[in-house]
Amino acid sequence: MGTHVVTGAASGIGAATRTRLMRDGHSVIGLDRHAADVVADLGTADGRASAIEKIRAESGGRLEGVVSAAGLGPYDDAVAIARVNYFGAIAMLDGLRGQLEAGSEPAAVAISSVGAVFKELVVGKFVEACLAGDEDTACAAIADCDGNTAYVSAKHAVALAVRQRAPEWGALGIRLNAVAPGATQTPMLERLHADSVLGPQVKALPCPLGHSGPPEELASAIAFLLGADARYVHGTVLFVDGGSDAVVRPNDL
Ligand SMILES: NC(=O)c1ccc[n+]([C@@H]2O[C@H](COP(=O)([O-])OP(=O)(O)OC[C@H]3O[C@@H](n4cnc5c(N)ncnc54)[C@H](O)[C@@H]3O)[C@@H](O)[C@H]2O)c1
Repeated sequence: MGTHVVTGAASGIGAATRTRLMRDGHSVIGLDRHAADVVADLGTADGRASAIEKIRAESGGRLEGVVSAAGLGPYDDAVAIARVNYFGAIAMLDGLRGQLEAGSEPAAVAISSVGAVFKELVVGKFVEACLAGDEDTACAAIADCDGNTAYVSAKHAVALAVRQRAPEWGALGIRLNAVAPGATQTPMLERLHADSVLGPQVKALPCPLGHSGPPEELASAIAFLLGADARYVHGTVLFVDGGSDAVVRPNDL
């Protein structure tokens, strides 16, 4: 039992994760742009810094878990997506690492996406700048792209950022993993389905199990990755997608 931070806690996967962790007996500091314990805009450096300080005040400087779920959808502006979905998400992981180090068996989970496997859409220069932590260059590299390209590229970069942190975080005793959701029944998916361009593309994503996932089932996977049953799971990307990834790239790992 311990204190967990969940970003994006006001809606969808973040809200379901908050509920699940509280049901499991943890205390949860929810963060969002509205309706949360900590209200902050993760799209800005000031918002991220003030969130980290407010969380320190609430947690007493000690965290057992962080879930970086806040995100914009592929229908949003490309630069805003880069700032929130990559830089905001990673800033929370890196910025809360010191508080996790003070935990007893700490773990963190980032949210990627099954979209991250569509490598033909990934903008290499953007991903390089993300991984170098260069927000200005990354935003310039993605500014002329559509939201879907930015979304896929940012989610690809998030998965790589998790993998690349495995040595350093592991040495500190903090497990870090990513979940890559497939189509999940949240307000983001509703908005995607309603989009005349993106809706048909999302609906065409093959899914062997034949249905989208309830956010509670994403929360189950996240709770697993945070908990003692996943003590030897580190630096991995867990697809929770009804089998979509396996169909899209059956010959790749
Ligand atoms: N729903 C899906 O099908 C799906 C699939 C793959 C990945 N994901 C990812 O899962 C995560 C959760 O998505 P969801 O479907 O629950 O979406 P959602 O829209 O229901 O919830 C996202 C939450 O993030 C918050 N948020 C957005 N921008 C923010 C900012 N600048 N600062 C703070 N909070 C901010 C929103 O206010 C909202 O409460 C996202 O990272 C999303 O990209 C979702």
